[in-house]
This record gives sequence, C-alpha cells and structure tokens, in this order.
Amino acid sequence: MPIYALAGNTPVIATNAFIAPSADVIGRVHIGDGASIWFNVVLRGDGNDIRIGAGSNIQDGTVVHIATNMGPTLIGEHVLVGHQALIHGCTLEDHAFVGFAAQVMDGCVVETDAMLAAGALLTPGKRVPTGELWAGRPAKFLRALTADNIAQNRAGVEGYRMLGQMCRTALKRVDI
Ligand SMILES: CC(C)(COP(=O)(O)OP(=O)(O)OC[C@H]1O[C@@H](n2cnc3c(N)ncnc32)[C@H](O)[C@@H]1OP(=O)(O)O)[C@@H](O)C(=O)NCCC(=O)NCCS
Repeated sequence: MPIYALAGNTPVIATNAFIAPSADVIGRVHIGDGASIWFNVVLRGDGNDIRIGAGSNIQDGTVVHIATNMGPTLIGEHVLVGHQALIHGCTLEDHAFVGFAAQVMDGCVVETDAMLAAGALLTPGKRVPTGELWAGRPAKFLRALTADNIAQNRAGVEGYRMLGQMCRTALKRVDI
C-alpha cells in the first residue's frame, strides 16, 4: 500500500480500514475503524495531524492537507467527503457531508449533520451549522436540511462503509 513515513512520522491505520491502492497516505495521518480512502486520494500530513474517524469515507480524487500554522485537519466519525473535494486545515464534525468537488478552506468547520453542496467553496473560517445546507462559490446558506435529507446523508455514509469493507476483502488486481 502507498503509505509513507515522513520525518519519523508513520501513518496509523486501523486494520479494517480500506485504503485503495492508488491513494497516498503520508506522515501524521490517523485513520479509524472501517474508514474508506478511495482511489487517487492524497492525505498529506506533513506538518500537522490529519485524523479521520471511524466509518468515514474520503472519495476518489480528494486531497486532504493541513494548515501548517493553524492546526490539524480533523475529520470525525461517519463523515462523507465526495469525489474530488479539497479539505484543507479544517474540521468536519461527526456525520458532516461534503459534496463532490467542494473545497473547504483553513479554519472552517462543517458541523454534525451539516451539508456542503457539490462544487461549493467554503472560504476561510466559515462554519456550516448543524442542519444547514450551504452551496455556491463562495458558499452561503441555501436552505435547512429536512429530517429525510439527514437520514439519506447518513445512509450514504453507511453504504460507503459497506462498499469499503467489500473492497478491502474482494478487490483483486488483475494483469491482463
Ligand atoms: C444541493 C443539492 C443537495 C440539491 O439541493 P436541492 O435543494 O434539492 O436543490 P434544487 O435542485 O431543488 O435547487 C434549488 C436551488 O439550488 C441551486 N443548487 C442546487 N444544487 C446546487 C449546487 N450544488 N450548488 C449551487 N447551487 C445549487 C439550484 O440551482 C436552485 O437554484 P434556484 O432556486 O436559483 O433555481 C445537490 O445539488 C448536491 O449538491 N448534492 C450533493 C451530491 C454529492 O456531492 N454527493 C456526494 C458523492 S456520493
């Protein structure tokens, strides 16, 4: 697996996490139980910590980095980060949802059961409160999430957790 120690810091990865073979995991990175890190993801913990909690998924092509002078990047439990997102020096609380191609800048917080829409740009220091959907560039409040929306988001996370477990055991490289 493409796991790199850097300056004496070796990633700490739960044994039942799924790390796709094309993902790069570098330095001060902690990955929790049942988390899934998909194809072409970069997790670069080169000056601070990146922590990814149990059951979270970081989808294909996403880049996660830290803000050297501001602190770690903290991704809680059962968080969904869609394809090709950028997560930089920020906090995603448990059950946060970041849509595909969204970008989260330094010092931001996406709270529990808050949602950032696909393609959104959350500018430095902004906070998406629990139960709100923010969208656009720069991202702004779009509407309140319904109970159904929140349930669907949580179901999506669980789907990815199961998919990750399937890939962990059933993904086989073939040379054709
Ligand atoms: C935001 C989202 C949930 C749609 O929400 P919605 O309330 O159903 O939105 P609607 O389609 O009814 O559109 C409502 C308004 O929001 C706008 N809108 C919808 N999605 C938007 C987005 N991603 N960014 C900016 N504006 C968006 C619409 O243009 C519309 O604007 P208008 O009222 O001026 O015409 C959806 O676009 C989205 O981003 N889903 C995330 C999918 C994802 O990333 N999944 C992760 C990978 S599995």
